[in-house]
This record gives sequence, C-alpha cells and structure tokens, in this order.
Amino acid sequence: MKQKKGIICPLFYVSGFMLNDLENLKKAALTKISEASSEEVLRAAEIEFLGRKGKLTEILRGLKDLPAAEKGKVGKASNEIKTEIEQAIIDKTKELESAKFDELAESEWIDPTQPGQEAPRGTLHPLTQFVREAEKVFERMGFAVATGPQIEDDFHNFEALNIPADHPARDSQDTLFLENSDGKLLRTQTSSVQIRWMKDREPPFRIVAPGRVFRKDDFDASHSPMFHQLEGLVVDEDISLANMKAVMEEAVRQLINPEAKFRFRTSYFPFVEPGLEMDMSCTICGGKGCPVCKKTGWIEIVGCGLVHPNVLKNVDVDPDKWSGFAFGFGLDRMVMLRHEIKDLRLLFENDLRFLRQF
Ligand code: DAH
Repeated sequence: MKQKKGIICPLFYVSGFMLNDLENLKKAALTKISEASSEEVLRAAEIEFLGRKGKLTEILRGLKDLPAAEKGKVGKASNEIKTEIEQAIIDKTKELESAKFDELAESEWIDPTQPGQEAPRGTLHPLTQFVREAEKVFERMGFAVATGPQIEDDFHNFEALNIPADHPARDSQDTLFLENSDGKLLRTQTSSVQIRWMKDREPPFRIVAPGRVFRKDDFDASHSPMFHQLEGLVVDEDISLANMKAVMEEAVRQLINPEAKFRFRTSYFPFVEPGLEMDMSCTICGGKGCPVCKKTGWIEIVGCGLVHPNVLKNVDVDPDKWSGFAFGFGLDRMVMLRHEIKDLRLLFENDLRFLRQF
C-alpha cells in the first residue's frame, strides 16, 4: 500500500522515534564511558544507562507497550546496544585498571641495580687497630693470641712471676687492690697471662697476650692509671737472646718503622734473667735528638729478657730442659709514636674529632 504523502504512519513513527532515541542513547552512553576518567565515573555511567532505573532499562521496559510488529525491531536494536554498552564498560574498566598499574609502576619504580646506601660506619680505635695488626704480625711468626682476666690474684700477678710478698718490685707497681675480695687486684701487667698459659699446658709455648693493665697513677700527657701492654712469651728448647732479638726487631720493624734501629740495655725485671730493655731509634727525629726522645735519639719501648728459671719452676716446667724469652710492649706508647700523638689522654677521651682521623 502506498502511503499518503504528509501523513506519518503512527507505527513507523513509534518505532522510528524509538530507534532514533536508542541511537542517541548509545552515542551518549559510549561518549560518557570513553570519557570516564575514573572507576567511580564509569560506575555512575553504568548505573545511568544500565541500572534498574537506567535509561536503556526504561526503554526495554516500554517494549511491551509497542505494537507486536515493532517489538522485535526495537527489542533487537535495544539488546544490541545493551551488549555494545556493556562491552564498552568492560573495555573501559580494563583500560582504567591498566592505567592505574602503569601509574603505580611509575610512582613506585625502583632501580634494583642502583648501589645501596652505605650505612655510616665508625672506625676502630687506633689502639685496637694496632693490637689487631700486632696479632697478625706475631701470628705469622707462629704465635698464638692469649688472654687473661683483668681482675687477677696475687699468685698470677706477682708470686709466680718471681715477685715475692716483700719484694721491692711490688712497690713500684702501685697496685690497685679490690676491697673485700680476698686480695684480688687489677692486674698491673700482662705478664700474668704467661703464668695462666703455662700452668695449664705443656711446652713449647709461643704466645702474645694484649690487654689492659692498671696502676695507681696520674692522668696526664704521659701517664694513665689504665694503659695497654702486649706480652710475649716463647718457651722451647735452646732458646737464646739471639732468638729474642730477631723476633722483637722484626715485629717492631713491621709495626712501626721498617728502617728502625735498635739497641738493648740491661735492666731488671724479677721474672727474667738477664733482663733487658729494647730502645728504638726515634721515629720523630730519625735519631738526631728531639723533645720526644729527650734529645737522646732513642725511645724505650719494651722490657724483655730470658724467662727466669724460678718462673718456669712455678708452673712445673723443667728449666734444665726448657728455656725461653719474654717481652712486654707498652702499646699506648707505640701507638703514640706511630701516629705522632703528643698527649696520651687523647687515646682515652673518646673525642670523635680525634678518633675520626684514624
Ligand atoms: N711486665 C713488665 C712491666 O709491666 C714489662 C715486661 C718486662 C714484661 C720484661 C716482660 C719482660 O715479659 O720480660 O713493666
């Protein structure tokens, strides 16, 4: 049937209007979805079009009122649009998600190849450094490192070292005794470690024993009631002064000055016979004479000697079979010489401006 011009068929009008409406709705929905800048905006768009009271839902609900002939056409179109909008929402959700991860990757980006930040570290005290080096030097010569307690008894600190109760050497020690302690004292010398080591073992012995010692004394540029020694002891068969000289000179050359010259003077220590003192040529003036060496060119650094037979007897070592030598370095002195430190107190005041230099 030919339609009369100017008259719009109501059915066509209905479905035409609906289809047009749907098309606009789709455009509006797709634009909103594609422009959604966040998930919230996207969810709002979803509700606006597909929600229970959404625009498309409303149209779909109105389908039942359409004439049967149009129902199919409009229904089909509506469903296609619904699917299209749903797909657009799925795509946009994915897009927003991946944008979110891209952003996270950017903001939380780390470079695992970048070197770590170094934690601020202190340095070892110059005395500790020196002790560790000395231990290495002696270990290379076959010595073991021994330790002993700082709180000692009379036997290990004096008696067994051939310093009997009325011996004048005890006065010179200016010992710090502990109250109510059965005569316990702060050791005045690391020589006590010789006794502790020997009495529990069988010779031969070859040890060094670094550690703190204590004497009642002033605290000034060259004195301190607490200072450090490094004891050495070798006991074996046929040990002579020549062995002692070789070991001590080699150690001091390695630790302080490879060019150093040495001289030995007789001295007295109750636990050695003969007792000697070793001097080293002054590192400051090279032997010409300066205030540090009191213009003599020599610096006294260590007492030493051949182990007294009485000491060996006191620890049940047969002096007819075994002989040995011992020495006691003053460590603070050596560290001061090595770094040209003029005041002993600097070593004990823990002033970081001083300590950071080492
Ligand atoms: N113990 C002595 C002191 O404190 C130092 C010393 C001298 C140690 C001679 C020794 C030695 O082993 O043989 O003055």
